[in-house]
Amino acid sequence: MSMGLVTLLLLLLLLALAWRSWGVQGTWKRGALPPGPTPLPLLGNLLLLQSGRLDRTLMELSGRWGPVFTLHLGPRPAVVLCGYAALRDALVLQADTFSGRGAMAVFERFTRGNGIVFSNGPRWLTLRNFALGALKEFGLGTRTIEERVLEEATCLLEEFQATIGVPFDPRRLLDNAVSNVICSVVFGNRYGYRDPEFLRLLDLFSDNFRIMSSRWGEMYNIFPSLLDWLPGPHHRIFRNFAELRVFISEQIQRHRQTRQPGVPRDFIDCFLDQMDKEQQDAESHFQEETLVMTTHNLFFGGTETTSITLRYGLLILLKYPEVAAKVQEELDTVVGRIRLPSQADRARLPYTNAVLHEIQRFISVLPLGLPRALTRDAHLHDYFLPKGTSVIPLLMSSHRDPTQFKDPDCFNPTNFLDDKGNFRSNDAFMPFAPGKRMCLGAGLARLELFLFLTAILQRFRLLPVRSPAHLDLTPQYTGLGNLPTTFQLHLVAR
Ligand code: HEM
Repeated sequence: MSMGLVTLLLLLLLLALAWRSWGVQGTWKRGALPPGPTPLPLLGNLLLLQSGRLDRTLMELSGRWGPVFTLHLGPRPAVVLCGYAALRDALVLQADTFSGRGAMAVFERFTRGNGIVFSNGPRWLTLRNFALGALKEFGLGTRTIEERVLEEATCLLEEFQATIGVPFDPRRLLDNAVSNVICSVVFGNRYGYRDPEFLRLLDLFSDNFRIMSSRWGEMYNIFPSLLDWLPGPHHRIFRNFAELRVFISEQIQRHRQTRQPGVPRDFIDCFLDQMDKEQQDAESHFQEETLVMTTHNLFFGGTETTSITLRYGLLILLKYPEVAAKVQEELDTVVGRIRLPSQADRARLPYTNAVLHEIQRFISVLPLGLPRALTRDAHLHDYFLPKGTSVIPLLMSSHRDPTQFKDPDCFNPTNFLDDKGNFRSNDAFMPFAPGKRMCLGAGLARLELFLFLTAILQRFRLLPVRSPAHLDLTPQYTGLGNLPTTFQLHLVAR
C-alpha cells in the first residue's frame, strides 16, 4: 500500500473517530465560550501546537487572545487560564466552582474515574478527606514524618558517598529515596536501593511520566480512540500501569493476610478498616478498586514530581555553582556540619528557602497543572462559562508572569528575597496549584525537597562533568511534566 493511501486511510479514520467522539461528548458549544484561535473541523487547533512545547505555545496564544481563551484540542474545547490574575480569579476566588477534575484520556483508561486524582463529586471529596486524615494519622505534618525523611536522607547520603569520585546519573537513587517516604506511609515499609522488584517499579513510573510528557502522550490525550489503533510507545503506558496494578494488588493481599482489624499499620490498613465499617452500605466509596487507585495516586503522585524537582534542582545548582556555594555557606553558619538540617532550621535559612522556591518556579514541573472542570456555571473576566467546561490551568504562566517576577525566564533566587535578604513569599508561586483541588501532598513534598536537598549540599560539593556553560536547562521532555535532560553528577566530600 502506498504511503499516500495509508495517510488518506488514517485521515478518514481520524475524521470518523473524532466525529464520533464529538457527537457523543456533545461539548461543542461554539459561541458559549471565550474567543480563541479558529479551530479546524475535528483537528481543532492542533496545527498551532506543532512547536513541541505546549506550555510556551499557550502562553504565546494568550498574548493574542488574552488571559482567558478557548483552545480546541482536537474536537473538544477547553478554556485556558493564563497568567497569575486569571488563575487567581478562577481557582482561588471561585474555588468551589473550579474544583472539578477535567478529563485526561491517558489516565482515564486506567483509573475509570476512580481514586482521588481523577474522580469528581462526593466520591472525590470523601476519598480526599479520608486520605488527608489517614496520612495525618501516619505522621504527615508532624515530627514523625520529618524523622522518616531524615532517616531516608541518611540512607541516600550513604549511597551518594559510595559514588565519590565516579560520576553517576542520580535519577534512580533520588526516585528510590523519595518513593520510600510515601511507601512507608502507604505500604508500611521502605525498599532497599538495590531491590530489583522495586527498581523495576520505579522504572515503570519514570517511563510512564516520560511518555506522558512526550508528543505521544499529548496526542493520546487529544485523539485516544485513534491512537488506540496506531502503533507507538504510548501503548507501553497501559502495560506499565497494569504491572503497577499487580504490585499494588499483591501489597493489598499481603495486608489482608497480616492485618489486625482496628489496629492500622499504614494507609492500606486504614482503608481496609473503613471498608469493613461500610461493608453493608451499597453506596460506599470504599471498595477494593478504589483502594487500588487511591494507593496508586499516592504512590505515583508522591514519587515522580518530587524526584524530578530534586533532580532538576541539582542540575540547576551545577549550572549555577555560585548559588550552591551560597546555600552551603548559609547551612554552615546556621546548622553547621555535625547534624542534618531540620524543618525547624528553615525559617533561619532564607537564602536556601528562596533557592528551593526559585527551583520550583523556574522548572514548573507540571506546567499545565492537571485539567479542571467547572462544577457549575460561572462568570470569569466577563465571559460566561457553562458547567462542565474543561479548564487548563497554565500554572507555568503564573511562574513566568512579568508582573509578578522580575526576569521571569531567568533563574534568580532574589525573586523570593526582599532587599534585606529575608525570605519573601509570592502568591503567584503555585507549583501545587491553588484552590480546593490543590496537591494533596504539597506539605510532604516541600518537606522532602528541603530536607533532601539541604542534606546533599551540606555533605557534598557538586561538580559537573561538563563545564556549567554547556549544561542545558531546557526540558528534555515537556507535556504533562517538564523533565530535565539526563546528566552526570560528580560528588566531592566537603
Ligand atoms: C514537587 C512535588 C509535587 C508537585 C509539584 C505536585 C503538583 C501537583 C499538582 C499541580 C496537582 C494538581 C492540583 C490541581 O488539580 O489543582 C497535584 C495533585 C495531586 N497530588 Fe501532587 N505534587 C507533588 C507531590 C505530591 C506528593 C508527594 C503526593 C503524595 C502524597 C501528591 C499527591 C497528589 C494527589 C493525590 C493529587 C490529587 C489532588 C486532588 O485531585 O484532589 N503530590 N499535585
